[in-house]
Order: sequence, then structure tokens, then C-alpha cells
Amino acid sequence: MHLSLLEPLGAHAPLPVIARRPAQLVGNTPVLWIDEPFAPPGRGFYAKLEGANPGGIKDRPGLHMVAEARRRGDLAPGAPIVESSSGTLGLGLALAGLTYGHPVTVVTDPGMEPSMVRLLTALGAQVDQVTAPHPEGGWQEARRERVAERLTRAPGAYCPDQYHNPDNRAAYRPLAAELLAQLGRIDVLVAAVGTGGHSAGVAAGLRESLPGLTLIGVDAVGSTIFGQPAASRLMRGLGSSIHPENVDYGAFTEVHWVGPAEAVWACRQLARRHGTSGGWSVGAVALVAGWAAGTFPAGTRIAAIFPDGPHRYLDTVYNDAWCREHEVLRTTPPDEPDEIAEPDECVVTSWTRCSQVRDPLGRDLAKTGLR
Ligand SMILES: Cc1ncc(COP(=O)(O)O)c(C=O)c1O
Repeated sequence: MHLSLLEPLGAHAPLPVIARRPAQLVGNTPVLWIDEPFAPPGRGFYAKLEGANPGGIKDRPGLHMVAEARRRGDLAPGAPIVESSSGTLGLGLALAGLTYGHPVTVVTDPGMEPSMVRLLTALGAQVDQVTAPHPEGGWQEARRERVAERLTRAPGAYCPDQYHNPDNRAAYRPLAAELLAQLGRIDVLVAAVGTGGHSAGVAAGLRESLPGLTLIGVDAVGSTIFGQPAASRLMRGLGSSIHPENVDYGAFTEVHWVGPAEAVWACRQLARRHGTSGGWSVGAVALVAGWAAGTFPAGTRIAAIFPDGPHRYLDTVYNDAWCREHEVLRTTPPDEPDEIAEPDECVVTSWTRCSQVRDPLGRDLAKTGLR
């Protein structure tokens, strides 16, 4: 790296805020330019580093969903909050619980990293881990059933339901505004998809000013969101074994599925070459954004959303023994993904793209009020 690249940062960066409360530390996250080895020489993309939030990207919907539920009267002062999460929203809800004064229970499964269980507990949340997957809906459905049980046992308890709650999407309007202010023009947005909240919310916000925006969705192999059969998944955060209503199928230009070995490679390259990294979704998004940077015409401005940082993945993605045991420690992924014409053409097991995107359940989202 040339030293001259560093000069403008020290000289002109705005001073960070002095916050009175931790919720004021959410948002205004930085953007970092990422180039090789993801993109060919001279090309690259802008990564929005949501790991710079106190918890991660889901601090935004955690705070917003709780604030809106309180405003509507769905959540009474001091009433408990119960939600299913693989971790990131749990952190956001722990922050919302602290901010607004609610006890928080995070329902999860054995795939949650022990360090995340400890962190959530340290932040004052109760962690309830289900022990067996649902026969059809997998771990996610088992978690949803446990949440339902807890809600009936505790009258007044509130579940934000991040999969279907439109406040999840709406929470990302500020992120879109930040990206616009930081980058001016954006031609392509690359975003991971789990509940669908941030891809839908950020793309909708950007399209108010940039109607021609291309949106590339990034999913995990084994996820059923875009019409592949659900299978057990090593990758956490992105992907789903259900079909959340927050996924705005009509907004996507194309979808990519990424495999765990490819994401591990990308996470480790990001750390080593760019001094920043994250978890499964960050690696997968970086791989696809780098491909876009080499595929779209020169001058195309690409933004990618990195949902979190690397710390919770030190015992998985960044642990050689764990990666070897799970057979995800391998060399460079191909330069190009495989391509399928229809999302259910075949079962994909490694990086693959498809430019036909539709709701596998054929729902009319206009009727749900989400579009
Ligand atoms: C680390 C991480 N990345 C990506 C996602 C997917 O984001 P969304 O639920 O907004 O689609 C999640 C969702 O939980 C996540 O925790």
C-alpha cells in the first residue's frame, strides 16, 4: 500500500461522536475500498463495514423494531422480548433491551458459537438453545416453535419476528442514506440475504434516488430462500430454511449461492490483504462483489454490505483445525461462478449464479403490505 493513500484519512476524517448512550453509536459506519484478489487489477468495490456498529448490522433493526413496537403499543414498558436469532439480531435486541428497559430472550440452536452465547449473556440477554431440528423446517422452524411456546407462557411478551416484520426492512433507510452520502452514485449493490431485511430496505432506499440500481443477492448453498431445497448448512447469518416475507424477490437482478469453503477463502483473504473481515456472509458478499467488479464495465460503482466483523468466527472460519474437520480449507475459488437458468434447475453445492429470481411460494407481496 502507498503511504499517500493514508494521508486523507488522518487529515479530513470527521471526528467520531461522543455518545451519551450506546444506541447513539449505531450507524454512520465506514466504507472501505476492496480490490485484489477479489477483483482484477484496477477494479474493486466499496464495502460498508457494518461490523463497526456495537453489535453488527442488526443493531439497526433491533432498535427500530423495538421502538416501533413500543410506539404502536404492541410492547408495553418493561415487557419481555423473545426472538429467534443466530446471534446478530440477538446483539441488536440486547442493545434495544438496555436502551428501552426490556428483558430479552434469544432463542437459538446448537450452531450458535459458544463465544456468542457468552457475549449475549454478558450483555444481559437470556439464551435459550433448542436441542433438535424440526423434521421439515430444520433448526429455524424448531426455533420459531420455541418462540411461540414462550410467547404463550408469558402474556405481554413480544416477538419482533424479524422474518416477516416490515420494520426490519424499514430500519435500513438510514443505511441507504449513509451510502448515498458516502458514495454519491451507486450502480450495483451486493447484499447477503437471510431474513431479507437489509437487502430489501437498503435497495428500496437507494432506488428512490437511483432507480436503475442493480441488486445482487447472496445466499448460502443449502438455503431454500431462492428456490433451492433446504439442506443442513455450515454457514450462519445468511441463508434460511424458511421463506421470509421480508425477502423482496422482485428487487433482485440476480442471486448467487456461495459454499462454505469459498466463503472461508474470502474471509481469510479479506483479513490478510485488507485488514478487515467478518463471518460467512462477509466472505460470500466479498467474493460476489469482486466478481461483479471484474464483470461489469469499468467505472461501474459497486457497493457491498459487510454485516459483521470476524470475532465470533475465530473458532470456525479462522480456525484451521475446525476448517479441516469440516473440509472447507481449500484453495482459491474459481474466477467465475457456475450458472443455472432456473433457480431449481439442479441442487447447487458451490458458487453458482442465476438471473431468474422469483418467490418459490408465488406469494403476492403487494397483498402483505410489504411492497
Ligand atoms: C451476519 C449476518 N449476515 C447476514 C445476514 C442476513 O441479513 P438479513 O436478515 O437482513 O437478510 C444476517 C442475518 O441474521 C446475519 O446475522
